[in-house]
Parts: sequence; C-alpha cells; structure tokens
Amino acid sequence: MDYSAKRLDELQAAFDLPPAQIADIAGKFQDEMLAGLAGRSSSLKMLPSFLARPAGSETGRFLALDFGGTNVRVQLVELAGDGRWTVPAQNALPLKDPVGRYDYTTAATAAPELFDFLTAQIAAVVEADEDYLLGHTFSFPCRQQGLNRAVLIGWTKEIKTAGVEGREITALLSEALLRRGLGRVKPCAIINDTVGTLLTAAYGDPYTDIGAICGTGHNTCYFEPAAAMIINMESGNFAGLPFTEYDRRLDAASERPGSQRLEKMVAGRYLGELVRMIAADCLNLPLETGSLSAEDLAAVLGGLPRPVPAAALTAGEFQLLRTVAQAVVIRSARLVAATFLGVLARTDPALSFRHTIAVDGSLYEKMPGYAARLSATLTEALGPKADLLTVKLSKDGSGVGAAIAAAIAGEGR
Ligand code: BGC
Repeated sequence: MDYSAKRLDELQAAFDLPPAQIADIAGKFQDEMLAGLAGRSSSLKMLPSFLARPAGSETGRFLALDFGGTNVRVQLVELAGDGRWTVPAQNALPLKDPVGRYDYTTAATAAPELFDFLTAQIAAVVEADEDYLLGHTFSFPCRQQGLNRAVLIGWTKEIKTAGVEGREITALLSEALLRRGLGRVKPCAIINDTVGTLLTAAYGDPYTDIGAICGTGHNTCYFEPAAAMIINMESGNFAGLPFTEYDRRLDAASERPGSQRLEKMVAGRYLGELVRMIAADCLNLPLETGSLSAEDLAAVLGGLPRPVPAAALTAGEFQLLRTVAQAVVIRSARLVAATFLGVLARTDPALSFRHTIAVDGSLYEKMPGYAARLSATLTEALGPKADLLTVKLSKDGSGVGAAIAAAIAGEGR
C-alpha cells in the first residue's frame, strides 16, 4: 500500500461515524438541550422566538427582509392561506460585490452603512404611498426580548461588520428606514432563518416541528411543547463532538476559535477549506488556502466539469480529492442527522407521532447525495419508525417565514 493510500485509509476512519457514535452524539445533544432549557451552562443557546406555529389561515400582503450573511433579499409576499403564497415583487443583492466594488461584511463597515444598504433594497420594492408590515429574517444568534426585539449576541459565518454586536437589530433597521424616508414600512417581527423555515413548512403541514438550515451556515430550531414556542437552538455552536486534528486546525484559524464547532464541521462556509486542508497537508495535493468552495465540492462529487482549483491535479490526485470530499460531506450529513435524533428524543422519546423536518440551504438542496445520506442516517438509527418522519426541502422558507411572522404579529396588534 503506498503512502497516500495508507493516509487515506486513516483519514476515512477518522471521518467515519459508526451508528454507535451517532447515538452517542444524539444523546449528548439532547443533554445540552436540556441544560440550555434549564438555564444551565450549555453549548446550545436555546433562544426563545416568541412564536408558536402558524394556524395556516394567516393571509395578507407583507414585506420580508432576509439577511443571512451572503445576500440581502427583499420580497413582497402575498399569503393566501393553507400553505399557499405568491411573491409578486422581489429584489436581492450580495453583501459582498463579486467584482469587489463594495463589501458590507468587513470590520471597516459600520452598522449604519450596512443598514442603509438594506433599506436601499427595500426602497426598490415598495410603493412610496403605501403602508407595509415588515418581517425580518436575521440569521445570527440573537437574544430575543419579544417578537420584534432582538439583540445580536455575536456574528457568525466570519462576518465582521462593526457596531452591530450587542445592538438591538430592529432599532438599527427602523432608524435606517427613517433616514431613507421609508417611515411607512413598519418592522413588526424579527426571526432566525431556521424559524422562518419551520414557519413556512408548518403553514401548509401541521406536523412540522423541526426547521433547519444546511447552507453557508448551520442551525436548527424546533417547537418546544413545554414552552409552547419555537426555540432557536443555535445548534451550530454544539461542541459535544469527536474532533479530528483538521477540525482543530480549521477552528484555530477561524475568526472565532472555540465557537460554532458543529458549524465548522458541517456548513458550506467551511467544508471546502476542510477538504482542501486535508488534501494539501495529508495527501500533498497542490491546493492553495481558501481555494476550494462548497460549490467546487459539489462539482467534484457530481461529476461536473472540474472546478478551477482542481484543474492541475493528475487523474489519481483528483480521485484522492474526490474521496476526501465524499468523507467530509457524508460526515456533515450524518452529524446533522444525529442532532435531529437528539431533538426527537426530547420531543417524542418513544417516537409515536408524525414529524416533518423542514430543511433549507444550498448544501441540503444541491450537494450530491447529501439529503439522501441524512435520511439514511435517520433510518439507520430508528428502523421502521423512521416512516413517521418526513424530511423535506422548504425552499426559500426563510423569506416567506418572515412574512408569516409579520402576519402573526399583525394579528396581535
Ligand atoms: C447562525 C444561525 C443561522 C445559521 C444558518 C449560523 O451561523 O448562527 O443563526 O441560523 O447560521 O444561517
């Protein structure tokens, strides 16, 4: 066996999570949920959303502002009831210009500049002489003080914009709306994107009780019966995990070492670099730091034309890269499934009810084999009872969910 083949075997063993380890991670996840709910020290923040699930009968026209860290998207959403909606107008722009003219995610950008950029996108969708209720999806850990008040605890996904951490987000948005002359747009709800995903799926399917994002970042929320409320777990911060030396190195080189440990093992923002680091350092493949993205991994695994960073690899090296990518992507799907098992153990220990798990995000939607591997891991753990689970893509749920939250807030006015 040559050197690379031996190293590859060791690597695959380090990234393989056998069923017993999945069960162990699920158990630890449930323990952290319980600790967080009880206010004890936990890697899960268990943040209240001040929202239960929608009735399905919410109707009307609302503005949805979706701020996830990659793009800002504004949608005019017409909720028609029974899980139906239309989006008659929308506008989206990246926070970081692909050709480098602007970047609202750096420490050199101050909060007002970022929020002025958001309101400029709102201005492009609204009519000046109309009133709007706005729901805001803000996909970062926030301490909610009510449905319309949320203080950013800390940025994730390597965002660094200055002057937003510790601030109340709806106040920053309202001030920017006034600066822009958009006083007729009234923010009335602020939610996490996982909550938006759950709300959107639950709008048409009452069995929905878990919502997750598997995209640039990762997180899961669920409906907690004891609190009669959806709880944003900020599960990307879960730390009860078997780390490899590569996970430790990626974490050490990140913006916030020690935080978001699960996210750094599973989310699109990090998977490309994890694969690159292993391929370069362990298998000596010529790949520069930061050169591989999750899209590149999708191309490698999906048999698409080779992505640019892998162009110079020999056929043998490319095969090694593919094997590493496969191991890292499968581990991601299995870890996420383990956390879902932890939630189900909390909400329905005997697994006697139907559950719909709504997932959104590019990783879940587009990474070859990802969704299938996630479901297979649930079936492996639960056997025939897995038939009670439906895991489904809730596409664009984070934006529409903001409109649903605005409708619920509007009913309470
Ligand atoms: C954030 C979460 C968010 C997730 C998915 C994480 O980095 O902390 O609030 O739900 O990304 O966007």
